[in-house]
Amino acid sequence: MASKAEAAEEIRFGAAVQVSVEVEVNGRLQAMTLPSDMRLVDFLRDRLGLTGTKFGCDTGQCGSCTILLDDVSVKSCTMLAVQADGARITTIEGVSTNGSLTALQNAFWEQHAVQCGYCTPGLILSLTDLLNRNPHPSESEIRRWIDGNICRCGVYQNVVRAVESITAQAE
Ligand code: FES
Ligand code: FES
Repeated sequence: MASKAEAAEEIRFGAAVQVSVEVEVNGRLQAMTLPSDMRLVDFLRDRLGLTGTKFGCDTGQCGSCTILLDDVSVKSCTMLAVQADGARITTIEGVSTNGSLTALQNAFWEQHAVQCGYCTPGLILSLTDLLNRNPHPSESEIRRWIDGNICRCGVYQNVVRAVESITAQAE
């Protein structure tokens, strides 16, 4: 197994090597040896079985693979797993606590902001980041924020309504 410095050098020349990675995922420390070219989305889905993180476009456009990395929403198909070394990750499986939905998840349910559900985990993680930064976003801020989350079923209107329903309660 390569040291991190050796791995960085190998990666620079395009070779995949095995790298030890420690990452906290949904509150649990995961220490593993991973190929340096494994994407974060594949690590979460294939190694950890966290298939709530969806995989849509493979080009960084659809947002279905969005997760929180140190509380910031990122598209996990655009990162290597080794780049998350030392970070704290939250996937949709780790959003709620003790089986209770978050206010945002409840609002999605109540406002029918889900149709097939494929985009839903990414939207929830992305909007969780928005609400952490700004608990009272305007409609245009909500719409701009979810610009990177594509919903093939077209539930955008209800997603905006769901976010507005909880920001109204918080006032
Ligand atoms: S699968 Fe990552 S943005 Fe589409
Ligand atoms: S609810 Fe089907 S893709 Fe968004």
